[in-house]
Amino acid sequence: MVIPYGRQHIDDEDVASVAEALRSDFLTQGTRVVRFEREVADYAGAAHAAAFNSATSALHAACMALGLKEGDTAWTSPNSFVASANCALYCGASVDFVDIDPKTYNMCPDKLEEKLKSAAVLPKIVIPVDFSGQSCDMRRIRALSEQYGFRVIEDASHAIGGSYGDRKIGSCEFSDICIFSFHPVKVITTGEGGMATTNDPVLARAMEAFRSHGITRDKDVMEKKDEGAWYYEQRSLGMNYRITDIQCALGSSQMRKLDRFVAQRHAAARRYDAALKDVAVTTPYQAEGRYSAYHLYVVQTERRDAVFAALKEKGVGVNVHYIPIHLQPYYRTRFGFKDGDFPESERYYRRAISLPLFPGLTEEKQDYVISSLKDAL
Ligand SMILES: Cc1ncc(COP(=O)(O)O)c(C=O)c1O
Repeated sequence: MVIPYGRQHIDDEDVASVAEALRSDFLTQGTRVVRFEREVADYAGAAHAAAFNSATSALHAACMALGLKEGDTAWTSPNSFVASANCALYCGASVDFVDIDPKTYNMCPDKLEEKLKSAAVLPKIVIPVDFSGQSCDMRRIRALSEQYGFRVIEDASHAIGGSYGDRKIGSCEFSDICIFSFHPVKVITTGEGGMATTNDPVLARAMEAFRSHGITRDKDVMEKKDEGAWYYEQRSLGMNYRITDIQCALGSSQMRKLDRFVAQRHAAARRYDAALKDVAVTTPYQAEGRYSAYHLYVVQTERRDAVFAALKEKGVGVNVHYIPIHLQPYYRTRFGFKDGDFPESERYYRRAISLPLFPGLTEEKQDYVISSLKDAL
């Protein structure tokens, strides 16, 4: 038996919802995509939501909608999945990083400010990542964006169901666009899938067009307004990044359980906190005014490699989030990044282990993880 670090939670209601979509007239481009978009927008408190076949696609579309192009630079956190940085490269732009805060593991606003003050070239976009489901210091990042003139894409791939102050993550109160992922290890799932929320109708329309070849059927923006009902226009170059109705049927059904999933993740996190209080590991820090979606529960230990191997040996499916992006061979070779460039992210990486955390993790299994961790230490 292996206990994974994360996994989906699917019940009969999810199965029935997908079965209904499969028996309907539209497997894709039907009404379920629009319904799921509305549900996520309303939940997050944003005006618009555009669904995609992954968060990676949504990040790409967000960068394109904000006009990122060759000659521009985007900054993100080294402590993320490569998709948070790759999205800028797809647009022909360059990428740089801002090191993390050693307590929250999120982009450090002080370091962002320092880097902005001394930057020869300012970023066009900054992509803070709500690591493990805990919001970044978005108020400060927004204030810096106003001062220095960059746009903000909040990569909240880990964070649907979390809050920042009295607003849900995804409200875009302090960002231009916010991105969620629905990969099976995330808080809710559509198999593969992602969503971009925004309060700007122009950005929403641009992302929708990009997701479907750059095609529009909106007469208001067409060159020829009096052609027949068959008529559409391609007005820019886009991709096929569409999600299916089958996936959105699952998404809608998962949305109904989102708050319960997050509450279960919190309950399990509190059990870990209590059990590991007197153990030589650093448990996750929760900054004031944040309610994490708890996608991940990361502990830090000096003896990471040995503890990781011992837990794997015992069938505990631990993982490491994240290998700093700048240390990936592709980024080293292409941009010349090297060890020591972002020391907090590197130090954190050497000590980090993600323990199993998901709604179906029973107390019995969690106790096994805890005792295995204590033995390993
Ligand atoms: C922070 C972050 N951003 C983006 C992504 C990409 O998400 P997706 O797999 O939905 O493309 C992930 C996925 O793990 C992620 O963790």
